[in-house]
This record gives sequence, structure tokens and C-alpha cells, in this order.
Amino acid sequence: MSDIEDHCTMLKKIGKIAKLPVAAIGKSVTLLLHPMKTIEQRDFSNIVFFTGAGMSAESGVPIYRGKGGIWGSYSIEEYACQEAFERNPEKVLAFHEKRRSSVLDCTPHDGHRVIADMSCARVVTQNIDGMHQRAGSKEVIELHGSLWRLRCQSCGFRKEDFGEKFETNRCDCGDWLRPDIVWFGDMLDAVVMSKASQAIGNCDLFISIGTSGTVWPAARYPDLAKKSGAYCIEINPEPSGDIAYDRVVEGAAGEVLPELFGVSRR
Ligand code: OAD
Repeated sequence: MSDIEDHCTMLKKIGKIAKLPVAAIGKSVTLLLHPMKTIEQRDFSNIVFFTGAGMSAESGVPIYRGKGGIWGSYSIEEYACQEAFERNPEKVLAFHEKRRSSVLDCTPHDGHRVIADMSCARVVTQNIDGMHQRAGSKEVIELHGSLWRLRCQSCGFRKEDFGEKFETNRCDCGDWLRPDIVWFGDMLDAVVMSKASQAIGNCDLFISIGTSGTVWPAARYPDLAKKSGAYCIEINPEPSGDIAYDRVVEGAAGEVLPELFGVSRR
């Protein structure tokens, strides 16, 4: 047995290594697994988690772009803009009912729970699925609205509506109720945006999770946090490459978050 193999046997006994097959050299290589450097929650007073579709991916909610992404199977022009709704409201509402039904089949994962258990944390999310709230998070700023709310496009009436099917799709004023979601071409709600900028501008730890950062204003948030003096972390199996981040953890939200905060998984 070589010195290296000897050393590895010893490390394996104390549980510090894993073996990975490497086809290229026809052998297995042994990697030292360094435990992840944890973040001490008590070192920060205002933590903002900024989340995108990747946050819900391990729960089974599909992401938007890339392999298996929603926009690969459904066209934005047919399902996710006001013009589509005006052309064919029933078709657009049926698409959103399908999304509601598939989200209801999913449950929040350990990563959602780690965030929900943190009293000084606020969530700014691009997600419309309500998974953070279902995990118990109280302060959730939903930039793109919610699958669980309807809005009248004529009189502005809003209605909470949780369930697979919409309770109704007509407003008392007679017009259609549309999902209260920011579709392509819609303006973001100014009050919601201002709350998000304020939260991010005042945080001392900014953790972005599972977003490609391609949609405005998401793209500017890491920079805003950095300029406000926050320590910035990105969690993503395919990091964005944004230079604002002080630390990038390549991995899945549900695995990384418990480890990063030293919380055991359920
Ligand atoms: P995208 O689909 O653009 O990006 C999802 C990101 O999640 C990618 O960077 C993936 O690498 C990452 N990811 C995948 N699995 C992950 C996991 N298990 N853990 C962590 N990250 C993971 O989704 P968003 O950036 O959220 O808007 O997209 C932004 C907006 O564009 C959405 O809110 C939606 C969409 O069109 C509207 O519909 C208005």
C-alpha cells in the first residue's frame, strides 16, 4: 500500500474522505472533504435572503430557464403576458391553475426551513409559489406577485385565492380577474420594489439563492447590497459569475443552507 493509500485509509476511518470514480483515469480518486465554513447568525443583525426559482427546485417546482425550464415548454407570448390574457383569458387561467396544482404537490425543503427559523431574516423573492410562507417565513417581499392572489384589471380589486382551482375568475365589476403576478411587460409594484430596495440597502448579510439574475431588478441587487456594506454570498449549482459576491457556494439550496448555518437536516 502506498503512503497516499495509507493516509486515505486513516482519513476514511475518521470520516473525512469520499471516493469518486473518475472515468478519465480509470480509477477512483480520493478527495478530502473539508467541512463548509459556517456562518454565525449572531454576527449579523439584518439578513436578507434573495431567492429565485432554484430555491424551490428541490421541492419539485420547475425553474424557468435551462433544462426542464418552464419557458422551454410554454411560450411567454401565449401564457405570461397581458396580451395573451386579453386574447384568451381561459387558456391563460388554465395554465396558472395547472401551475397551482403542481406547486400544491410540492413541500418546502430543509433550506426553506432554515430561513424560516431565523428571526432576523427577511426574504425578497422573485418566486410566486408561496413556498417560503408555507415553510413559516413571515417577512416575505414578493417582487413578482403571487400565484395565490387575483387582481381585477379594471378596478384594481385584489383577492387572496388559495387552492388548485380559482374560486372565481370574475370581479364584481364584471371584468376578468387575472393572477396577481408580474407578467412580461408588466410594471413591478413600486411599493414592493421600494420595500425590497430598503431591506437590501439595510442588510449586513445578503444571500442570493437560485436565481440566474437575468431579470431586472434582480440583476442589480447583489451590487446594491455590496455598496451598502453587506457581506454577499451566492448559493447556486451554476453560479452567476457576478463579481459583487464575497463568497460563492456551488451547490443546491436544500443541502447548502443547513450546512452553511450549521443546522442539522430533518
Ligand atoms: P431561472 O430559471 O432564470 O434561474 C434559476 C436558477 O436556479 C439558475 O441559476 C439555476 O442554476 C439555479 N438552480 C437550479 N437548481 C438549484 C438548486 N437546487 N439550488 C439552488 N439553485 C438552483 O429563475 P429566476 O432567476 O428565478 O419571472 O428567474 C427570474 C424570473 O424570470 C422569474 O421570477 C420569472 C422568470 O421569467 C416572471 O415570470 C415574471
